[in-house]
Amino acid sequence: MSLMDTEDYILAIDQGTSSSRALLFAHDGRKVIESYREVEQSYPHNGWVEMDPNKIWTSVLSVISDALIDASVHPEQIMGIGVTNQRETTVVWDKQTGEPIYNAIGWASKQTTPLAKDLTAHGYADMIHEKTGLVVDAYFSATKLRWILDHVAGAQGRAERGELLFGTIDTWLIWKLTGGKRHVTDFSNASRTMMFNIHDLAWDSEILSLLNIPEVMLPRLVESDQVVGATRSDQFFGASVPIAGIAGDQSAAMIGQRAFEPGMVKNTYGDGAFIMLNTGSDLVLSSHDLLTTIAYKFNGQIAYALEGSVLVAGSALSWLADTIQLIDNVPRSRQAAMESTDHDEVYVVPAFYGLGAPYWDQDARGAAYGLTRGTTRDDFVKATLQSIAYQTRDILETMNRDSHQQIKELLADGGSSRNRYLMQFQADILNLPVQRSADEESTALGVALLAGLATGFWNDFSELSDLYEEGRRFNPEMTPEKRQHLYRGWQTAVKATRLFKP
Ligand code: G3P
Repeated sequence: MSLMDTEDYILAIDQGTSSSRALLFAHDGRKVIESYREVEQSYPHNGWVEMDPNKIWTSVLSVISDALIDASVHPEQIMGIGVTNQRETTVVWDKQTGEPIYNAIGWASKQTTPLAKDLTAHGYADMIHEKTGLVVDAYFSATKLRWILDHVAGAQGRAERGELLFGTIDTWLIWKLTGGKRHVTDFSNASRTMMFNIHDLAWDSEILSLLNIPEVMLPRLVESDQVVGATRSDQFFGASVPIAGIAGDQSAAMIGQRAFEPGMVKNTYGDGAFIMLNTGSDLVLSSHDLLTTIAYKFNGQIAYALEGSVLVAGSALSWLADTIQLIDNVPRSRQAAMESTDHDEVYVVPAFYGLGAPYWDQDARGAAYGLTRGTTRDDFVKATLQSIAYQTRDILETMNRDSHQQIKELLADGGSSRNRYLMQFQADILNLPVQRSADEESTALGVALLAGLATGFWNDFSELSDLYEEGRRFNPEMTPEKRQHLYRGWQTAVKATRLFKP
């Protein structure tokens, strides 16, 4: 690209659990550049996951700056910004100074498990499920917010006086980008807080008073494709750019995958794996502990989804690479799996933070089964990869039962979707075709689409359908006997894992 480039672009900011990304999209849908930086997480105690909100913010600024410099794009050439984010992660900051009063508590963090259990023990689980669509769990923002208000001296009083603000990461970043002018979140993010009524589309006063959370600290609700404000030029490289798209990362991926029709289902293989089934305007409450969530609200239309979250997916592969160093890097896992000669009798259940849907067992911890003296490193790596596919099947089966939809294919995106071994095994174990997106970054594309449509950069979806390239399709090849045998082994491994409570 030359320095004379005068094209206009949409900027997508994708702030995820382990990294921040900035991507520029041109009018013809080309991804012009992507820049990436890792974000540090801390683990102050067993099962806790925290991040420094200021470091999240500076990492976002750095990736934007890297992208602009590397593509020789001037900030004024950006026509709109879309923000997509790791969901549920909770930040509380001082309205005046902008200083967080505690670390961001990560979505996977378990420090509020006792509080979540307490709510269930006191009989609130059904009411909360009915109103929010969620299962009472430490995963969601509400107990994390309560924890911060309980553990930072004077926080409750300051919150009640309107001196503190709460936000998920979208809210925090937009507040920073606008120099403290906008305190907003969209419906998809709000639906992950366990404080939001998904029927009324409003903060739920009964839950707020149960948790003693002052409503004054909560952000204003906006639609996913709404222009919410503009960057303050001194916070954004001298330019004032409209911020026009907000969606939690899983919703953005659904939009990026164009899973707009009821019955369509996508899986984003990130640190966790997040499977969402579009149920359109039907709010389906799960009878099997899946979550009901708001996929998006745009064009004035609301779409609900059933969601199942695998808490540990790609992060099990980084654990193999970074923590126990069985492989040099995550992509190496494919080669290791291909070189494994074991007959798939090893099972790894990576329940590092308990088990998510459909088990919701907060106390479960990881385990491996079927090890023999002959088990090799490659076998162990393969079994870890397979655990991602097995957990996905657990959820898809539950979705079939809840929605009475016959799922026809799985749309796959996210980092680990680039692993061909995993995608083939996924198709095999599901007995369904897996359609992998051409680009793993469906999340960023989704929020870029929202921002582009909201600012008139693109006119409508018919224009956008030209933007897509066909990805790769993986068809099931495994025999039914083998599939059944392997999956039964997985179910036994999960059962055994749940019996062991350290
Ligand atoms: O619910 C948590 C999810 O939004 C985080 O996604 O990809 O950043 O791990 P990811």
